[in-house]
Order: sequence, then C-alpha cells, then structure tokens
Amino acid sequence: MLTKAVVFILFLLSVSRCGTSWQSYDAIYNFGDSISDTGNLCTGGCPSWLTMGQPPYGTSYFGRPTGRCSDGRVVVDFLAQFFRLPLLPPSKSKTNGTDFRKGANMAIIGATAMNLDFFQSHGLGSSIWNNGPLDTQIQWFLQLMPSICGGAGDCRSHLSKSLFILGEFGGNDYNAAIFGGKSLDEVYTYVPHIINKVTSGVETLIGLGAVDVVVPGVLPIGCFPLYLTLYGSSNQSDYDGDGCLRRFNDLSGYHNRLLRQGIGRLRSKYAGVRLMYGDFYTQVAEMVRSPRSFGLDYGLTVCCGASGQGSYNYNNKARCGMSGSSACKDPQNYLNWDGIHLTEHAYRSIAYGWLTGPYCVPAILH
Ligand SMILES: *[C@@H]1O[C@H](CO)[C@@H](O)[C@H](O)[C@H]1NC(C)=O
Ligand SMILES: *[C@@H]1O[C@H](CO)[C@@H](O)[C@H](O)[C@H]1NC(C)=O
Repeated sequence: MLTKAVVFILFLLSVSRCGTSWQSYDAIYNFGDSISDTGNLCTGGCPSWLTMGQPPYGTSYFGRPTGRCSDGRVVVDFLAQFFRLPLLPPSKSKTNGTDFRKGANMAIIGATAMNLDFFQSHGLGSSIWNNGPLDTQIQWFLQLMPSICGGAGDCRSHLSKSLFILGEFGGNDYNAAIFGGKSLDEVYTYVPHIINKVTSGVETLIGLGAVDVVVPGVLPIGCFPLYLTLYGSSNQSDYDGDGCLRRFNDLSGYHNRLLRQGIGRLRSKYAGVRLMYGDFYTQVAEMVRSPRSFGLDYGLTVCCGASGQGSYNYNNKARCGMSGSSACKDPQNYLNWDGIHLTEHAYRSIAYGWLTGPYCVPAILH
C-alpha cells in the first residue's frame, strides 16, 4: 500500500523530471473577486450584512469566517502553500507593518472588471456596491509597491520572480447585468469591453515587470445553483446533458473564447512573458459531469443553504450564513459550497489542476 508520503515523493519526482531545478517564486500577487478574496472585505471586521462573514464560512480549515467565500481555503491559498509561501495577506490589512514582500491579495468580494461609470452608462449603477474593480485593485498594488520592493529597478527584479494571478474577472459584471434584468443579447455586447479591461490590466502588470501571469476565465455560470434556481425552466432543451442552463454557459464560453484570443495577442506582443490561461470552466464543467472522478459525490446541490429545498438545496432567502440555512456535515463531498462559490475540496483540486495541468494552459509548473 502506498503511503501518502510515498505518493508525495512520486509527485515531486514527476514534477522535477520536467525541469532542472525546483520551481519557486519569491511572492504571489493576486487580483480578483469573491472567488479569491482572502479577507479584504472583512479587514477590520466583516460588515454585519455580509452573509459570507457568518459561520459556517471557514469551518473546514480556519474554524471561523475569514472573509473567504468557502468552507476553507481558496485556490490562491493552495498555490501559496504549494510554493511554501505565507497565505497571502489581504492588501487592505496594511496597518501595523503587514509584510507584503512574499505576496499580497488585492481581490475583494463583489469586484467587477469594469468601473462604475460603465454600469452607470447602462443604467446599472445601482446594482454595483463594490468599490474595488480591477483598475482600483491595480492602484492598491501600486500603493503597496514601495513597501514590497522599494525603488523601480529593484521592483522589476522582484516582480519577475513572482507569480501573478489576474482573475477571474467578469463574473460579477455578468451577475450585475443579468440580475439587473438585461437581455442576454445586451450582455453579449459587454463581453469585448470586459476582455479589453482584463487584457489591459495584464499589460499594466507586464509593464511593471511581471513575467509569470495566470489569467483565469470565468466559471460555467449556468451550472451555479443560484442561476439554476432563479432561471429554472420546464423546457428540458434549456439544459445541457449535465443539467446546466445552456444559455448562461454559452455566455461564459463566449467570454472565455475572447479571453483566450486576447491572451494570444499578448503572447505575440510580449515574447519573454509566460501567460497562462486558468481554465476554471472546463474543470468545473467536468466536476459537474463526473463528480466522482474528482473525489466528490455531488455536482449541482449545495452543501450550505436550504437543505432539502428544490433540486439544489438552494433558496435565495435562506442562503448560507443567513438564519434558516444549514450546512451539510461532509463539505468534502460537494463541489458547490453556497450556490455560487465552491468548496475547499473543489478549490484544492483546481489549484493542482493549474499547477500540473491540464486545466491551465500552459500549466504553472514547467
Ligand atoms: C496597530 O498598533 C497600534 C500600536 O501597537 C495599536 O494601538 C493599534 O490598535 C493597531 N491597529 C490595528 C488595526 O491593529
Ligand atoms: C424549448 O426550448 C427550445 C430551445 O431552447 C425551443 O426551440 C423550443 O421551442 C422550446 N419549447 C417549448 C415548448 O417552449
């Protein structure tokens, strides 16, 4: 019988075979939304209205809510631990000498790719409550840079040895538009703007000296229990073979196609830079299709929510963290934690899918 230690050593050997030395990074810098926030919205205490700031968020690993939208760690936590770096401190926790030299996380719950004026110009200003869109997160990073690496020349060297993750972005832009009642035809016209915002964010980081950048696409939003519950249909042909709503997954697919084209353009423009496409979509869709291949029992029912209600344990009025909600005893068997975010088990599997492939193109480890 193989012990865990032997399996780990075999894994290390298989990794080291591909390179002449251990791959390492001096730091990880992350930008994103609730998929990867590690506490920015909860700096100084979670806002009382924030359901994600309530138990049982955090229960599987931290034992308390930390502002992460999961039962435990998120993808960037697993990446930090794999590279033996500290868990990334949220960038807003900059009081009292937080050390950002080994990493910082600018991601914040609710973040959009587009700035507020974009939503205002489409009559969606009131759907946006967050004040940390992508451009703002880049400003937060620029403000931290003096404490990270001092002068500009030193920074280029440090940043060239750091791993950057920019995204996913777009999920909240689409939520705002769809929940705000926009037709999908209109939402499709936003996609090229969102992709331009993401690729110009990547170019800004490259300009600062970033060399290794993971750019994740959006998840299959038609497989989210939140969407499945709000937009359920009696017409079976609205669903794909895995029980997800086709038209929303088509939107995610369109975003990801344009994003990959944008990444391709940047690759030709910046020859020395390693741009990696983080393929959330394919992996999550495969987890929904065959949960057991990923060590899961449930693909479309949530662990934390309205147990026993509807087809997905989901009720928007009894979301995880609200009174009237409850959590399963075995989150490790679930893909979906709260209807729109994934469990720690799923995020661990995604992190390794990015490190070794095939769900990151190319894989982070090379
Ligand atoms: C920072 O440190 C000072 C002095 O030790 C303390 O009074 C203050 O409460 C700390 N602030 C935070 C946000 O922890
Ligand atoms: C069901 O949906 C398909 C396409 O999504 C459509 O072509 C068909 O007319 C719908 N059927 C009914 C009964 O609405």
